[in-house]
Amino acid sequence: MTSPFRDDPALAPPAGCPAHRAGDPGGRDQALLDALDEPAPDEPGLDELPVAGLRRLYGPAAEADPAGLYEQLRAEYGEVAPVLLHGDLPAWLVLGHTSNLTVMRTPSRFSRDSRRWTAFQQGLVAEDSPLMPVIAWQPLCVFADGAEHRRLRGAVTDGLNGTDRRGVRRFVTRYTAELVEEFGGKGRADLVSRFAEHLPMLVMTQLVGMPEEYGPRLVEAARDLMKGTETAIASNDHVVAALRRTVERKRSDPGPDLCTRLMQHEARLTDEEVLEHLRVVLLAANETTVNLIADTLKMILTDERFRAHLSGGHMTVPDALDQVLWDAPPMSLVAGRWATGDTVLGGRRIRSGDMLLLGLAAGNVDPVVRPDLAKPLHGNRSHLSFGSGPHECPGQDIGRAIAEAGIDCLLTLLPDLRLAVPESELTWTSAWLSRHLVELPVEFTPREHLPETVAAAASAGAARDTAGAAPAVPPPVEHVEPVEPEPAPLPGPRRGWWGTLTGWLRR
Ligand code: HEM
Repeated sequence: MTSPFRDDPALAPPAGCPAHRAGDPGGRDQALLDALDEPAPDEPGLDELPVAGLRRLYGPAAEADPAGLYEQLRAEYGEVAPVLLHGDLPAWLVLGHTSNLTVMRTPSRFSRDSRRWTAFQQGLVAEDSPLMPVIAWQPLCVFADGAEHRRLRGAVTDGLNGTDRRGVRRFVTRYTAELVEEFGGKGRADLVSRFAEHLPMLVMTQLVGMPEEYGPRLVEAARDLMKGTETAIASNDHVVAALRRTVERKRSDPGPDLCTRLMQHEARLTDEEVLEHLRVVLLAANETTVNLIADTLKMILTDERFRAHLSGGHMTVPDALDQVLWDAPPMSLVAGRWATGDTVLGGRRIRSGDMLLLGLAAGNVDPVVRPDLAKPLHGNRSHLSFGSGPHECPGQDIGRAIAEAGIDCLLTLLPDLRLAVPESELTWTSAWLSRHLVELPVEFTPREHLPETVAAAASAGAARDTAGAAPAVPPPVEHVEPVEPEPAPLPGPRRGWWGTLTGWLRR
């Protein structure tokens, strides 16, 4: 979450304010919070609640209408609700905006280390549980706290911060032009499968420092991983093999790219740590940015406010992105945090080792912060969609830049873009952590050739001048291992990036 007030000295708390003690990243005093939250003396803990009375966060009913479920839970329990995860294991779902921030910003109370979970310690989580890919601990920055988190995350953050922003725009412009060139002559396309699912991975492979030829196969592998099908293991192997070749190559041929910056970072990551964190970045960047692009395009094409504002010049694409980040966060939930000791949150008694799920989608529509959901939120970035605190998304500027520049360029190339089906026919697949627009069929005037300005920008991107993330001379063509067997989408649950991040590692 980006607070609009963070850098405003006029809004800084008075010196010595007890609610802003140093050392509490939440900016709230623990005793004050507990006093406000204090539960009734007979308030039961999670393990004392009858399972039969709790709602499931998984299964067809929950996945048909997650937003409706969150509102029922809010009405019943308030800021923090007990829910059941796969296997009917109980956990807390944090629904309130403030409570979510408290959990994210207070790692001393709410750890990222899943090994603390009581259910793990009591042997209640089956090896083949669908939860395992998401929460089984791995030596990655996403599961680390304290000094180890700072070491790993510092390298990732410094590496990402070294990315040249103009270079990102150039890659986005170039790949958008190439993608439009492929379907532009037809006058009709599905923008999810022909655009949104390609652009982020194509750009990210360039920022990471991979040879250009790797892009298309990595896009296919990432699409397969997102679907979590039988071939996902082979696709993950393909991603890992491509990253391994890149790390080996960068040892003798460093460049202005993320891979080289991670390898040369003072945190002295091992080659395996470099590889795994590049994989974290690729997967974390891909699915979230795919969802952000798809949902923003959908909103631009269907919401009268955007159509009117965009054509009148009052609303910009960044405004549209902000609105989507509030209303349809690319990740609905983050799993999770684990209580380091007995504590209190939103009036609930949390026991040491309890699991908490961050309800980003629910927190973004908390009536306390948004009493009127129809009120536009242009420029307001205090949503929860990028998280907050020590694990706040380090790639948010890059993700936003890819989405913003890509949509901008697409609307320039296809200015009469319109939905080809009634809005009521659009569908989403939901899993417990995220929702994904299935298709976005559009029509437009067929375009055989790109306008000169875009073609010029595209070729400038292709040349990749020295400010970009790759050398001006095109890299040598390398052999790319095929993804075996060829990814063939099968019906099955979507895994989500947290799942793919850890799931295929644990073999
Ligand atoms: C634009 C869409 C994106 C959204 C909505 C998003 C959202 C998030 C969220 C909610 C988290 C978890 C925060 C937490 O646990 O408190 C996260 C973590 C992370 N994201 Fe993003 N992200 C996006 C794009 C990206 C991009 C483009 C990159 C890389 C270039 C990236 C890299 C990461 C990494 C490495 C983490 C783990 C950080 C840590 O645990 O310390 N994300 N992101």
